[in-house]
Amino acid sequence: MSCLKIDGGKRLYGEIAVHGAKNSILPLLAAAYMCQGQTVLHNCPFLSDVEISLKILEYLGCKCERQGSTLIISPSNSNCFEIPECLMREMRSSIVFMGALLSKMGSCVMSLPGGCELGPRPIDIHIDSLTKLGAVIECNHGFLTCSLPEGIKAAELYLKFPSVGATENIILAAAVSNGTTVIHNAAREPEIEDLALFLNSAGAEINGAGSDTVVINGVNRLNGTEYTVMPDRIIAATCMMATAACKGRICLNNANKNHLIPIISILRDGGTLVDVSDSGLTVTSHFRQHNFGTVTTQPYPGFPTDAGPILVALSSVCKGTGVFIENIFDSRFHYIDELRLLGADIKTVGRVAVITGVKSLVGADVVSHDLRGGAALTVAALAAKGCSIIRKPCYIDRGYQKIEEIFGCLGADIKRTED
Ligand code: EPU
Repeated sequence: MSCLKIDGGKRLYGEIAVHGAKNSILPLLAAAYMCQGQTVLHNCPFLSDVEISLKILEYLGCKCERQGSTLIISPSNSNCFEIPECLMREMRSSIVFMGALLSKMGSCVMSLPGGCELGPRPIDIHIDSLTKLGAVIECNHGFLTCSLPEGIKAAELYLKFPSVGATENIILAAAVSNGTTVIHNAAREPEIEDLALFLNSAGAEINGAGSDTVVINGVNRLNGTEYTVMPDRIIAATCMMATAACKGRICLNNANKNHLIPIISILRDGGTLVDVSDSGLTVTSHFRQHNFGTVTTQPYPGFPTDAGPILVALSSVCKGTGVFIENIFDSRFHYIDELRLLGADIKTVGRVAVITGVKSLVGADVVSHDLRGGAALTVAALAAKGCSIIRKPCYIDRGYQKIEEIFGCLGADIKRTED
């Protein structure tokens, strides 16, 4: 089993380009399955979740080729409409293949999706919305059987919560259809806009993505296309907060400042300098940052839940006390016990964490339990004095392409080794 070994306490200096966003690539690959020509997708890092999506595409009959960070997906002629349970259970976003399969095949069979353990993750909004679009969906013993007896029926939908995955599934299902589907209270995450831009480049007519009302004018078919995935805003946030925790100065060459407004604001309020220019972001930290007061995670454009664990890691070494409230997932605090092993002073009640910053963390042997929690442990270990071991980096590999290289090129002493 591999692990990360970190000799912490080094300042971070250097510049990097942030790789493509996992949470954008996964729905784009489901969309590529619907295209009738070849799709060329640039800026696709090697991430375990991306590799699982490629296995699903291959199982469904697509030919997938990787040339560095470019993926080439050739369309499928197969009649397969079933995704094996072993692939579905590997990650949550496998559920976006439901909209894509319904659109292309008119039916699908799949198990409920898996993914990081963040508490219950129902799919009622997906099922309710796709049903209103004409799907007949049965769920028995953890398996979903879906059909579309009369094709997609355009509809006006209101989501009771702006679910990212449900918004993506609806967009995928309605992109090729007769009539106009409107999603009210849609998720506004940048990854939704990226999906719409990709689909529009393939011939779809989708307006309003990135706002709370998305209008999908169904088209007859999607063509092949060439597209570059947006940079990963959570990786950018991770590097920015790691610099605030470790001190130093880094440049993120291609980060999109508009996607990072809550992070920039919190860092600036705490005393970290963030310069925004056309070429990217520069983060400079010379002193111990002040804690952030109270932060609650919210759907975009609020503070992102995926950056929450990294903020808690940073907060552990700030001056004063911070209160962090996780508002999206029920159970996202598994990493906090491990942060305590590194010397963090954190009290939790339900979804609330109260963090009293300590002058310095100390190296320890800790275990990742999920993707963002693992990244938070990495940031804490980079800031800690002495050596740390992070076990189960496989969780981190779901969303960060070689985290040891990301921080290694910023001057951190971090290596991947075998136990
Ligand atoms: N929800 C429901 N019913 C539904 C769908 C969602 O109750 O039908 C609830 C969920 O249980 C959760 C909340 O709504 O409490 C948010 O779920 P959402 O559907 O918005 O999230 P998701 O599509 O499952 C994506 C990202 C997550 C990210 C969330 C929120 C992907 C592959 N995953 O998940 O990313 O945290 O949006 O922004 O896009 C990660 O990258 O580490 C990660 C977990």
